[in-house]
Amino acid sequence: MIRSRIVGTGSYLPPRIVTNDELAKRIDTSDAWIQERTGIKQRHIAEESQTSSDLALEACRRALDAAGLKAADIDLIIVATSTPDFVFPSTACLLQAKLGVKGCPAFDVQAVCSGFVYGLGIADNFIRSGTHKRALVVGAEVFSRILDWNDRGTCVLFGDGAGAVVLAAGEQPGIHATVLHADGSQAGILSVPGNVCGGRIVGSPFLQMQGNQVFKFAVKVLDEVARETAVAAGIGLDQVDWLIPHQANVRILEATVKKLGMARERLVVTVDRHGNTSAASVPLALDEFVRAGKIKPGHKVMMQGVGGGFTWGASLVTM
Ligand code: ACO
Repeated sequence: MIRSRIVGTGSYLPPRIVTNDELAKRIDTSDAWIQERTGIKQRHIAEESQTSSDLALEACRRALDAAGLKAADIDLIIVATSTPDFVFPSTACLLQAKLGVKGCPAFDVQAVCSGFVYGLGIADNFIRSGTHKRALVVGAEVFSRILDWNDRGTCVLFGDGAGAVVLAAGEQPGIHATVLHADGSQAGILSVPGNVCGGRIVGSPFLQMQGNQVFKFAVKVLDEVARETAVAAGIGLDQVDWLIPHQANVRILEATVKKLGMARERLVVTVDRHGNTSAASVPLALDEFVRAGKIKPGHKVMMQGVGGGFTWGASLVTM
Protein backbone atom coordinates (compact mmCIF):
# COMPACT_ATOMS: atom_id res chain seq x y z
CA MET A 1 0.00 0.00 0.00
CA ILE A 2 1.31 3.48 -0.88
CA ARG A 3 1.58 5.91 2.02
CA SER A 4 2.89 9.45 2.24
CA ARG A 5 5.63 10.71 4.52
CA ILE A 6 7.04 14.13 5.40
CA VAL A 7 10.61 14.08 4.06
CA GLY A 8 11.48 17.76 4.52
CA THR A 9 10.25 20.86 6.32
CA GLY A 10 10.99 24.55 5.83
CA SER A 11 9.72 27.91 6.93
CA TYR A 12 10.26 31.62 6.49
CA LEU A 13 9.47 34.62 8.65
CA PRO A 14 9.88 38.15 7.30
CA PRO A 15 12.71 39.85 9.21
CA ARG A 16 10.72 42.77 10.61
CA ILE A 17 9.59 42.08 14.19
CA VAL A 18 6.81 44.15 15.74
CA THR A 19 6.68 43.94 19.54
CA ASN A 20 3.65 44.53 21.73
CA ASP A 21 5.29 47.70 23.02
CA GLU A 22 5.54 49.01 19.47
CA LEU A 23 1.80 48.40 18.97
CA ALA A 24 1.06 50.10 22.29
CA LYS A 25 2.59 53.30 20.91
CA ARG A 26 -0.05 53.35 18.16
CA ILE A 27 -3.21 51.91 19.75
CA ASP A 28 -4.75 51.74 23.22
CA THR A 29 -3.23 48.45 24.39
CA SER A 30 -0.31 47.17 26.48
CA ASP A 31 2.26 44.41 26.43
CA ALA A 32 0.78 43.13 29.71
CA TRP A 33 -2.78 42.87 28.29
CA ILE A 34 -1.69 41.14 25.10
CA GLN A 35 0.56 38.65 26.89
CA GLU A 36 -1.98 37.84 29.58
CA ARG A 37 -4.90 37.28 27.16
CA THR A 38 -3.02 35.68 24.26
CA GLY A 39 0.57 34.76 25.22
CA ILE A 40 1.80 36.77 22.22
CA LYS A 41 4.98 38.84 22.71
CA GLN A 42 5.79 39.76 19.11
CA ARG A 43 4.95 38.99 15.49
CA HIS A 44 6.79 39.23 12.14
CA ILE A 45 5.36 41.58 9.53
CA ALA A 46 6.13 41.40 5.80
CA GLU A 47 7.47 44.35 3.84
CA GLU A 48 4.93 45.98 1.54
CA SER A 49 6.64 44.43 -1.46
CA GLN A 50 6.49 40.87 -0.05
CA THR A 51 3.55 38.68 -1.01
CA SER A 52 2.40 35.26 0.17
CA SER A 53 4.11 33.60 -2.81
CA ASP A 54 7.41 35.30 -1.86
CA LEU A 55 7.21 33.93 1.68
CA ALA A 56 6.12 30.55 0.34
CA LEU A 57 9.09 30.44 -2.03
CA GLU A 58 11.61 30.81 0.81
CA ALA A 59 9.84 28.18 2.92
CA CYS A 60 9.72 25.76 -0.04
CA ARG A 61 13.41 26.24 -0.87
CA ARG A 62 14.28 25.28 2.71
CA ALA A 63 11.89 22.31 2.72
CA LEU A 64 13.32 21.05 -0.60
CA ASP A 65 16.88 21.44 0.74
CA ALA A 66 15.95 19.50 3.86
CA ALA A 67 14.45 16.75 1.68
CA GLY A 68 17.49 16.70 -0.64
CA LEU A 69 15.20 17.35 -3.61
CA LYS A 70 14.90 19.89 -6.41
CA ALA A 71 11.75 21.75 -7.44
CA ALA A 72 11.71 19.67 -10.63
CA ASP A 73 11.21 16.53 -8.50
CA ILE A 74 7.84 17.85 -7.25
CA ASP A 75 4.68 16.75 -9.06
CA LEU A 76 2.01 18.53 -6.99
CA ILE A 77 1.92 21.99 -5.33
CA ILE A 78 -0.77 22.97 -2.84
CA VAL A 79 -0.75 26.38 -1.14
CA ALA A 80 -3.07 27.08 1.78
CA THR A 81 -3.70 30.81 2.05
CA SER A 82 -6.43 33.33 2.78
CA THR A 83 -4.18 36.19 1.71
CA PRO A 84 -3.39 35.26 -1.90
CA ASP A 85 -1.24 37.52 -4.07
CA PHE A 86 -4.18 38.06 -6.46
CA VAL A 87 -7.82 37.10 -6.95
CA PHE A 88 -6.27 34.88 -9.63
CA PRO A 89 -4.04 33.23 -10.74
CA SER A 90 -3.60 31.17 -7.62
CA THR A 91 -0.67 31.73 -5.29
CA ALA A 92 0.32 28.12 -6.00
CA CYS A 93 0.72 28.89 -9.73
CA LEU A 94 2.78 32.00 -8.92
CA LEU A 95 4.90 29.93 -6.53
CA GLN A 96 5.40 27.26 -9.19
CA ALA A 97 6.76 29.89 -11.60
CA LYS A 98 9.05 31.33 -8.90
CA LEU A 99 10.36 27.81 -8.26
CA GLY A 100 11.24 27.72 -11.96
CA VAL A 101 9.15 24.68 -12.84
CA LYS A 102 6.01 24.01 -14.88
CA GLY A 103 3.59 21.26 -15.72
CA CYS A 104 2.58 19.80 -12.37
CA PRO A 105 -0.83 20.69 -10.90
CA ALA A 106 -0.74 23.70 -8.58
CA PHE A 107 -3.71 25.10 -6.68
CA ASP A 108 -4.72 27.00 -3.57
CA VAL A 109 -6.78 25.74 -0.65
CA GLN A 110 -8.98 28.24 1.20
CA ALA A 111 -9.73 26.96 4.68
CA VAL A 112 -8.23 29.89 6.62
CA CYS A 113 -6.31 28.69 9.70
CA SER A 114 -7.13 25.03 8.90
CA GLY A 115 -5.74 25.38 5.39
CA PHE A 116 -2.46 23.58 5.94
CA VAL A 117 -4.11 20.53 7.51
CA TYR A 118 -6.68 20.53 4.67
CA GLY A 119 -3.79 20.68 2.17
CA LEU A 120 -2.01 17.83 3.90
CA GLY A 121 -5.15 15.68 3.73
CA ILE A 122 -5.62 16.45 0.03
CA ALA A 123 -1.97 15.76 -0.86
CA ASP A 124 -2.02 12.53 1.15
CA ASN A 125 -4.98 11.31 -0.91
CA PHE A 126 -3.26 12.21 -4.19
CA ILE A 127 -0.17 10.26 -3.11
CA ARG A 128 -2.07 7.27 -1.73
CA SER A 129 -4.00 7.00 -4.99
CA GLY A 130 -0.69 6.51 -6.83
CA THR A 131 -1.17 9.42 -9.24
CA HIS A 132 1.47 11.66 -7.61
CA LYS A 133 4.73 10.97 -5.81
CA ARG A 134 6.12 14.15 -4.31
CA ALA A 135 4.08 17.11 -3.12
CA LEU A 136 4.86 20.51 -1.69
CA VAL A 137 2.23 21.50 0.85
CA VAL A 138 2.56 25.09 1.96
CA GLY A 139 0.84 27.51 4.32
CA ALA A 140 1.66 31.14 3.49
CA GLU A 141 0.02 34.29 4.78
CA VAL A 142 0.34 38.06 4.94
CA PHE A 143 -2.51 38.60 7.40
CA SER A 144 -1.09 42.06 8.16
CA ARG A 145 -2.82 43.16 4.91
CA ILE A 146 -6.34 42.28 6.07
CA LEU A 147 -6.13 43.75 9.58
CA ASP A 148 -7.60 47.03 10.70
CA TRP A 149 -4.55 48.37 12.55
CA ASN A 150 -6.83 50.63 14.59
CA ASP A 151 -8.85 47.68 15.94
CA ARG A 152 -7.03 46.58 19.07
CA GLY A 153 -9.33 43.55 19.42
CA THR A 154 -7.89 41.90 16.30
CA CYS A 155 -4.67 43.54 15.09
CA VAL A 156 -2.59 42.41 18.07
CA LEU A 157 -3.28 38.74 17.34
CA PHE A 158 -1.79 38.06 13.92
CA GLY A 159 1.53 37.87 12.07
CA ASP A 160 2.95 36.97 8.64
CA GLY A 161 4.99 33.94 7.60
CA ALA A 162 5.13 30.69 5.65
CA GLY A 163 5.82 27.02 6.32
CA ALA A 164 6.14 24.09 3.95
CA VAL A 165 6.58 20.34 3.90
CA VAL A 166 7.63 17.93 1.17
CA LEU A 167 5.45 14.82 1.18
CA ALA A 168 6.78 11.77 -0.63
CA ALA A 169 5.34 8.36 -1.44
CA GLY A 170 6.69 5.46 0.58
CA GLU A 171 5.70 2.17 2.08
CA GLN A 172 5.52 3.22 5.74
CA PRO A 173 3.30 5.98 7.15
CA GLY A 174 3.96 8.90 7.33
CA ILE A 175 0.50 10.23 7.56
CA HIS A 176 -1.65 7.76 9.49
CA ALA A 177 -4.93 9.66 9.28
CA THR A 178 -6.31 13.10 8.52
CA VAL A 179 -9.79 14.16 9.63
CA LEU A 180 -11.38 17.33 8.24
CA HIS A 181 -14.59 19.18 9.17
CA ALA A 182 -16.47 22.38 8.43
CA ASP A 183 -19.58 24.15 9.71
CA GLY A 184 -20.60 27.00 7.44
CA SER A 185 -23.35 28.08 9.85
CA GLN A 186 -20.54 29.61 11.96
CA ALA A 187 -19.20 31.74 9.07
CA GLY A 188 -20.09 34.99 10.84
CA ILE A 189 -17.88 34.61 13.92
CA LEU A 190 -14.62 35.03 12.00
CA SER A 191 -14.53 36.55 8.53
CA VAL A 192 -13.31 39.17 6.09
CA PRO A 193 -16.74 39.93 4.67
CA GLY A 194 -15.77 41.83 1.56
CA ASN A 195 -15.02 41.30 -2.11
CA VAL A 196 -14.00 43.13 -5.25
CA CYS A 197 -16.92 44.13 -7.45
CA GLY A 198 -16.93 46.50 -10.39
CA GLY A 199 -13.59 47.97 -9.38
CA ARG A 200 -14.64 48.63 -5.77
CA ILE A 201 -14.36 46.81 -2.47
CA VAL A 202 -17.86 45.79 -1.43
CA GLY A 203 -18.28 44.99 2.27
CA SER A 204 -15.25 45.11 4.56
CA PRO A 205 -11.68 44.24 3.57
CA PHE A 206 -10.75 43.77 7.26
CA LEU A 207 -10.85 40.76 9.55
CA GLN A 208 -13.80 40.70 11.94
CA MET A 209 -14.09 38.33 14.85
CA GLN A 210 -16.30 37.49 17.80
CA GLY A 211 -13.32 36.61 19.99
CA ASN A 212 -15.18 34.84 22.76
CA GLN A 213 -17.20 32.61 20.47
CA VAL A 214 -14.11 31.75 18.42
CA PHE A 215 -12.28 30.86 21.61
CA LYS A 216 -14.99 28.47 22.84
CA PHE A 217 -15.53 26.88 19.43
CA ALA A 218 -11.79 26.35 18.93
CA VAL A 219 -11.24 24.63 22.27
CA LYS A 220 -14.25 22.35 21.74
CA VAL A 221 -13.39 21.20 18.22
CA LEU A 222 -9.63 20.87 18.81
CA ASP A 223 -10.39 18.42 21.60
CA GLU A 224 -12.95 16.47 19.54
CA VAL A 225 -10.91 16.24 16.36
CA ALA A 226 -7.74 15.13 18.18
CA ARG A 227 -9.65 12.19 19.66
CA GLU A 228 -11.35 11.38 16.33
CA THR A 229 -8.01 11.43 14.47
CA ALA A 230 -6.30 9.24 17.06
CA VAL A 231 -9.09 6.66 16.65
CA ALA A 232 -8.92 6.87 12.84
CA ALA A 233 -5.14 6.32 13.03
CA GLY A 234 -5.42 3.49 15.58
CA ILE A 235 -2.92 5.32 17.79
CA GLY A 236 -3.62 6.29 21.40
CA LEU A 237 -3.23 9.91 22.45
CA ASP A 238 -0.74 8.64 25.03
CA GLN A 239 1.52 7.59 22.14
CA VAL A 240 1.55 11.07 20.58
CA ASP A 241 4.92 12.75 21.19
CA TRP A 242 3.96 16.27 20.09
CA LEU A 243 0.72 18.21 19.75
CA ILE A 244 0.86 21.12 17.29
CA PRO A 245 -2.48 22.92 17.42
CA HIS A 246 -3.05 25.93 15.22
CA GLN A 247 -1.17 28.72 16.99
CA ALA A 248 -4.02 31.13 17.72
CA ASN A 249 -3.68 31.97 21.38
CA VAL A 250 -1.67 30.30 24.13
CA ARG A 251 -4.80 30.00 26.28
CA ILE A 252 -6.54 27.99 23.52
CA LEU A 253 -3.46 25.74 23.24
CA GLU A 254 -3.19 25.16 26.97
CA ALA A 255 -6.91 24.48 27.35
CA THR A 256 -6.68 21.93 24.52
CA VAL A 257 -3.69 20.01 25.88
CA LYS A 258 -5.34 19.95 29.31
CA LYS A 259 -8.69 18.68 27.96
CA LEU A 260 -6.84 15.94 26.08
CA GLY A 261 -5.03 14.89 29.25
CA MET A 262 -1.65 15.31 27.58
CA ALA A 263 1.48 16.58 29.33
CA ARG A 264 2.20 20.30 28.84
CA GLU A 265 5.76 19.39 27.71
CA ARG A 266 4.30 17.78 24.60
CA LEU A 267 2.61 21.00 23.46
CA VAL A 268 4.38 22.94 20.70
CA VAL A 269 4.09 26.71 21.22
CA THR A 270 5.36 29.34 18.80
CA VAL A 271 2.47 31.82 18.97
CA ASP A 272 4.42 33.81 21.57
CA ARG A 273 6.99 34.79 18.93
CA HIS A 274 5.02 34.45 15.67
CA GLY A 275 1.50 35.56 16.59
CA ASN A 276 -1.27 33.82 14.69
CA THR A 277 -0.02 33.23 11.15
CA SER A 278 -3.21 31.43 10.07
CA ALA A 279 -2.49 28.65 7.52
CA ALA A 280 1.25 29.08 8.07
CA SER A 281 1.19 28.51 11.83
CA VAL A 282 1.31 24.70 11.93
CA PRO A 283 4.07 24.12 9.33
CA LEU A 284 6.07 27.02 10.82
CA ALA A 285 5.87 25.45 14.27
CA LEU A 286 6.66 21.98 12.88
CA ASP A 287 9.74 23.25 11.07
CA GLU A 288 10.98 25.19 14.08
CA PHE A 289 10.78 22.14 16.35
CA VAL A 290 12.30 19.83 13.72
CA ARG A 291 15.26 22.18 13.19
CA ALA A 292 15.71 22.56 16.93
CA GLY A 293 16.09 18.76 17.12
CA LYS A 294 13.07 18.45 19.42
CA ILE A 295 10.83 16.66 16.91
CA LYS A 296 12.91 13.69 15.77
CA PRO A 297 12.49 10.96 13.13
CA GLY A 298 10.05 8.38 14.46
CA HIS A 299 8.16 10.84 16.67
CA LYS A 300 4.38 10.88 16.39
CA VAL A 301 3.00 14.36 15.80
CA MET A 302 -0.63 15.51 15.89
CA MET A 303 -1.14 18.67 13.82
CA GLN A 304 -4.41 20.55 14.17
CA GLY A 305 -6.10 23.36 12.32
CA VAL A 306 -9.10 25.50 13.28
CA GLY A 307 -10.28 28.70 11.70
CA GLY A 308 -12.73 30.69 9.66
CA GLY A 309 -15.48 28.87 7.87
CA PHE A 310 -15.67 27.47 10.47
CA THR A 311 -13.19 24.77 9.51
CA TRP A 312 -11.17 22.36 11.58
CA GLY A 313 -9.16 19.19 11.23
CA ALA A 314 -6.17 17.17 12.37
CA SER A 315 -3.50 14.95 10.93
CA LEU A 316 -1.52 12.34 12.86
CA VAL A 317 1.89 11.58 11.39
CA THR A 318 5.05 9.67 12.16
CA MET A 319 8.03 11.82 11.24
N1 ACO B 1 -5.64 45.71 24.49
C1 ACO B 1 -6.30 46.15 25.56
N2 ACO B 1 -7.61 45.91 25.75
C2 ACO B 1 -8.26 45.19 24.81
C3 ACO B 1 -7.61 44.71 23.66
C4 ACO B 1 -6.25 45.01 23.51
N3 ACO B 1 -5.54 44.60 22.46
N4 ACO B 1 -8.51 44.05 22.92
C5 ACO B 1 -9.68 44.08 23.56
N5 ACO B 1 -9.53 44.79 24.71
C6 ACO B 1 -10.53 45.09 25.73
C7 ACO B 1 -11.94 45.04 25.18
O1 ACO B 1 -12.28 46.26 24.57
C8 ACO B 1 -12.74 44.80 26.44
O2 ACO B 1 -12.89 46.01 27.12
P1 ACO B 1 -14.27 46.37 27.87
O3 ACO B 1 -14.41 45.30 28.91
O4 ACO B 1 -14.02 47.72 28.38
O5 ACO B 1 -15.32 46.28 26.80
C9 ACO B 1 -11.81 43.92 27.28
O6 ACO B 1 -10.49 44.09 26.73
C10 ACO B 1 -12.18 42.46 27.25
O7 ACO B 1 -12.38 42.07 25.91
P2 ACO B 1 -12.74 40.62 25.52
O8 ACO B 1 -12.89 40.54 24.03
O9 ACO B 1 -13.88 40.12 26.36
O10 ACO B 1 -11.40 39.86 25.99
P3 ACO B 1 -11.10 38.35 25.98
O11 ACO B 1 -10.59 37.94 27.28
O12 ACO B 1 -12.19 37.56 25.34
O13 ACO B 1 -9.85 38.29 24.99
C11 ACO B 1 -9.29 37.69 22.77
C12 ACO B 1 -9.99 38.70 23.65
C13 ACO B 1 -7.83 37.68 23.11
C14 ACO B 1 -9.48 38.12 21.31
C15 ACO B 1 -9.92 36.32 23.03
O14 ACO B 1 -11.31 36.36 22.92
C16 ACO B 1 -9.41 35.31 22.08
O15 ACO B 1 -8.24 35.01 22.07
N6 ACO B 1 -10.28 34.69 21.28
C17 ACO B 1 -9.86 33.75 20.32
C18 ACO B 1 -9.68 34.49 19.09
C19 ACO B 1 -8.53 34.02 18.28
O16 ACO B 1 -7.60 33.39 18.70
N7 ACO B 1 -8.65 34.39 17.06
C20 ACO B 1 -7.66 34.10 16.14
C21 ACO B 1 -8.28 33.73 14.90
S1 ACO B 1 -9.22 32.36 15.11
C22 ACO B 1 -8.32 31.14 14.92
O17 ACO B 1 -7.24 31.28 14.45
C23 ACO B 1 -8.94 29.94 15.34
